[in-house]
Amino acid sequence: MAKHTTQAPVLAMTRVTDTVWQLRAGWDGPVRAGQFFMLRGWQGKDPLLGRPISVHDWGEDWVDFLFEVRGEGTRLLSALEPGDTLELTGALGNGFDTDLPAGTKVALVGGGIGVAPLLGTARALRAAGCAVTLFAGFRDEPYVLDKFEALGCDVQLATDSGRFGHKGFVTELLNPTDFDRVLVCGPEVMMEKIARACLAAKVPVFVSRESHMACGIGACLGCTCHTKNGPRSTCKDGPVFPGEVLYE
Ligand code: FES
Repeated sequence: MAKHTTQAPVLAMTRVTDTVWQLRAGWDGPVRAGQFFMLRGWQGKDPLLGRPISVHDWGEDWVDFLFEVRGEGTRLLSALEPGDTLELTGALGNGFDTDLPAGTKVALVGGGIGVAPLLGTARALRAAGCAVTLFAGFRDEPYVLDKFEALGCDVQLATDSGRFGHKGFVTELLNPTDFDRVLVCGPEVMMEKIARACLAAKVPVFVSRESHMACGIGACLGCTCHTKNGPRSTCKDGPVFPGEVLYE
């Protein structure tokens, strides 16, 4: 994949929760659901490397990122303001296959900030005429679920605290045999549990892995994961992998 880096304007920055932000940047290049960009929003400061952030949604001339502040790189991203400039490299990775027949029943399963790449995915699936159910799990307070409802998705919610939705894990809500395909993004333990349940039920499942990344294009071997076909780069061969490649 050609590496494409550009200086993009920050169009909007919205605080979604105490730790989650949404950044809209100017971008008119091609994007697919489930891809990611390397974002670098600081000049002359550490950390030198960009941060891999999944595409939340996109339009003709913009791309949205939903991210959680976890360290210095994301803290610096959250400090950007409209009018600032951001270095974008992308769109990277394979993404989710959303070119499915109308009427396909698709379950999207997101844990915490793992819901981020599922919004653009849901939009593309709904445009293809798929029936989409989002299973979302959060520690306590959910976010961005209204955007899925606005797309006509059924939304099932679980929280650890029980303050909203089902008290417990989102993995307890999904019956894989209700669906033709399951797409997952979230904590590794959640993805493995969902993937194994789907594989046991013979329902196709695809997981979007998160990894520390340096180059984002398969050059540094910093994001290698083990698959049944041998080592693969999460950034170049993924981030989306069929469940059976990782868990069988
Ligand atoms: Fe360098 Fe994936 S981040 S190979």
